[in-house]
Amino acid sequence: MTILLLGSGGREHALAWKMLQSTYCSQLFVAPGNAGTATIATNVDLNPNDFPAVKQFCLDHQVAMVVVGPEDPLVNGIYDFFKNDPTLAAIPVIGPSKEGAQLEGSKEYAKQFLVRHNIPTARYESFTPETVDQGCAFLETLTAPYVLKADGLAAGKGVLILSDLEEAKTELRNMLVHAKFGTASAKVVIEEFLSGIELSCFVLTDGKSYKILPTAKDYKRIGEGDTGLNTGGMGAVSPVPFANAEFMEKVETRIVKPTIAGLQQENIEYKGFVFIGLIKVGNDPYVIEYNVRMGDPETEVVMPRLQSDLVDIFTAIAHQKLDEIELAIDPRSATTIMVVSGGYPEDYEKGKVITGLEIVTDSIVFHAGTTIQESQVVSNGGRVLAVTSYGETYQEAIKKSYQNIAKLHFDKMYFRKDIGFDLF
Ligand code: AMP
Ligand code: GLY
Repeated sequence: MTILLLGSGGREHALAWKMLQSTYCSQLFVAPGNAGTATIATNVDLNPNDFPAVKQFCLDHQVAMVVVGPEDPLVNGIYDFFKNDPTLAAIPVIGPSKEGAQLEGSKEYAKQFLVRHNIPTARYESFTPETVDQGCAFLETLTAPYVLKADGLAAGKGVLILSDLEEAKTELRNMLVHAKFGTASAKVVIEEFLSGIELSCFVLTDGKSYKILPTAKDYKRIGEGDTGLNTGGMGAVSPVPFANAEFMEKVETRIVKPTIAGLQQENIEYKGFVFIGLIKVGNDPYVIEYNVRMGDPETEVVMPRLQSDLVDIFTAIAHQKLDEIELAIDPRSATTIMVVSGGYPEDYEKGKVITGLEIVTDSIVFHAGTTIQESQVVSNGGRVLAVTSYGETYQEAIKKSYQNIAKLHFDKMYFRKDIGFDLF
């Protein structure tokens, strides 16, 4: 079948790589894709949020399935757009409905859902510009650090964690009254701070049943030792060594089951990935956030460990037959290290020629921000390459990735040299 994958990052290169291993995938288009997807599939110059253009492409090319990588087309309602158009209704979209995508599109919606279904999460209240004074009063009832979250999508930047009460009040005003994150911060969720170690749990659902994919841990800060600014993710490890069977049993009974049951009870259509950001407090899991797509760079370690046919799984999801699928998972560890442009996540330069890609052995290089210019692969984003390796242990996998990164070069390239440091 012909499949259209929407997106352009390392996540999409990894999804494309995995789908192309399927005998059911005869042609794969990636819109817009990157230099990595161009080598294995056909890139299409299409904006994933331009639904009429996506529609025309699907009709012109007999696309039989649409797989959505990033969150914004989902939050903008691409699932419903297909479902409600008679010419498109037969083409399954892998992703949640617009309503389901609110789990990521609105922090307040997600918190209300969690509370309604008794799923462990940090205590919270939400505020608007009209209730900013009550927000300041609520901050006074909490102890530092203070967690402020813009309600809407803010490209991963909308969460502030502040140690000083006065600063927290000032930032609350900046968000609500001075639109620090634009309309995304017209509402702010203030949350109790949870102290623990984070990990992510990925779930596939067809709206009726679910399958839990391998866990992963990503490294969000730019600097070694988890310091400095937040990024999209600087590396990832799967499985997460501390997420043992006993802990995962708690995750499944306390979080995954009630999440899927909650979607069903509320008649929220959901045929896709649920990415549950967790924090382990003591020995108990709490939900930090939901995302309605796979993580990046977590996909670059989760997909390499999935042995089952991904297109077969997506087809089962589309027909609500996921319960008939048995997932096979590679027991080895997989790790990925992100190679980024110097300056990221602040200003950085693009268009740097990347060399050494052809001499990488024993690792898979997933492209994130790359493009082809005058037949050369050049950088085209902050996060440029994700170098993934397998190992009997995560330490062995990490070592292989670093050995291969040493063969790569572009001007001002940077990567963290301590991925996995907190797992020893
Ligand atoms: P989010 O976008 O909701 O995932 O938040 C971004 C990051 O902020 C998370 O990955 C956590 O590191 C941190 N964070 C969010 N909420 C909390 C919380 N309630 N307690 C502690 N850390 C948090
Ligand atoms: N790596 C975190 C995310 O994809 O949101």
